Amino acid sequence: MLKLDTSKARPFLQSDWNELMSEAAVAEGLLKGKMGPGNDFLGWLDLPEDFDKEEYARIKAAVERIKADSEVLVVIGIGGSYLGARAVIEALRPVVGVPFDGFPEIYFAGNQISATYMRALQKALRGRRFSINVISKSGTTTEPAIAFRLLKRQLEEQVGKEEAARRIYATTDRSRGALKKLAEQEGYECFVVPDDVGGRYSVLTAVGLLPIAAAGIDTDALIKGAQDMRRHLLAAPGNNPAVEYAALRNGLLRQGKTVEILANYEPGLHYVSEWWKQLYGESEGKDGKGIFPASVDLTTDLHSMGQFIQDGNRILMETVIMADKSSLPVLLEGEEEDLDGLNYLAGRTMDFVNESAMKGTMLAHVDGGVPVTRICLDEIDDYSLGELLYFFEYACGVSGYILGVNPFNQPGVESYKKNMFALLGKPGYEAAGEELRKRL
Ligand code: PA5
Repeated sequence: MLKLDTSKARPFLQSDWNELMSEAAVAEGLLKGKMGPGNDFLGWLDLPEDFDKEEYARIKAAVERIKADSEVLVVIGIGGSYLGARAVIEALRPVVGVPFDGFPEIYFAGNQISATYMRALQKALRGRRFSINVISKSGTTTEPAIAFRLLKRQLEEQVGKEEAARRIYATTDRSRGALKKLAEQEGYECFVVPDDVGGRYSVLTAVGLLPIAAAGIDTDALIKGAQDMRRHLLAAPGNNPAVEYAALRNGLLRQGKTVEILANYEPGLHYVSEWWKQLYGESEGKDGKGIFPASVDLTTDLHSMGQFIQDGNRILMETVIMADKSSLPVLLEGEEEDLDGLNYLAGRTMDFVNESAMKGTMLAHVDGGVPVTRICLDEIDDYSLGELLYFFEYACGVSGYILGVNPFNQPGVESYKKNMFALLGKPGYEAAGEELRKRL
């Protein structure tokens, strides 16, 4: 089971821990009792137990079809409509581009508007057997809509319209939106983003589960991990690591620790941090409040951001994700001539070196005035990731309520969209477009 170690962070707290925990308990009560702001978006709370079993069976059947007819699955989506899937897939398949046991390679698209990326993707897909999973809850988001228009055309050109329709899977609202309409018209198989689950909390719906299962990852174990974490958190008043994490980060924020960096020592966890940044950034960054979520991949970034973390503006707190059980042992052997000076490590594994770097860095950062919290997984596998995802979601809800915001809306995201539509000349935005062009 995931463990939270606050022993290198709590000593920094200037406020009373019991008072912070009482505040956090009130916030958790709002979440559990579904009485806080945004309570119509709490479907994710019960999702690990209460998911659509019929749809889950269809996801598994779709994966079998994709395996049979495609070497590549292109996952089109942005924000909450792709980060969860990418987080789990890259954590468990860290070397991208290596085919896995008969499952397709997973490519991502529609998470930016880069023509360079699109051209390269189109080229990579030329002559290859591919399927598309287009994911958009609203069904109207510009980035995935553009990518889908282009890649759908390519698929139709490569295999014909009828076969393309069989290889396109749409994950969207049950009944509304342009994508739903298009999918119905073209006969694509549809999967649902439930009304009461926001994008950034949707990894355990078809949004995450279809791409994750298609990558050959055991989604039963992922869901089981989330389920066990849910049961643990709901049954653990007074001993709840998610509530503790939420209380601690808010206590530190009040002392001026306005930035939280999530650190990992496994490159495969890069997108777990990206997912976490969206979860916390969109949930808490509003009404002039919030902790800025940042991330570092270590030890890589010790050679770039290490200086700032150790010695720069003391606004940082750090949370490290680590695993108790290491991966496959990679042994360092001695050499007759010790030209690179590494013989002192002969007989040691790379994991031993990585772990020593992690422990040394943690103590150095603590000495530099950075509170360090550790989240320890048993290992980096499907089950533990399920635990971790649910842990972070639950903690985020509690933390948002401690902060006094609605953690389940994202009003700020609309501002850039309005300006972009106006500058693109979308009908209905003419006056705003004129105004913006003058300012440019
Ligand atoms: O968390 C969110 O709500 C957002 O990040 C959305 O997931 C993102 O904007 C994509 O929206 P949609 O799924 O409607 O295309």
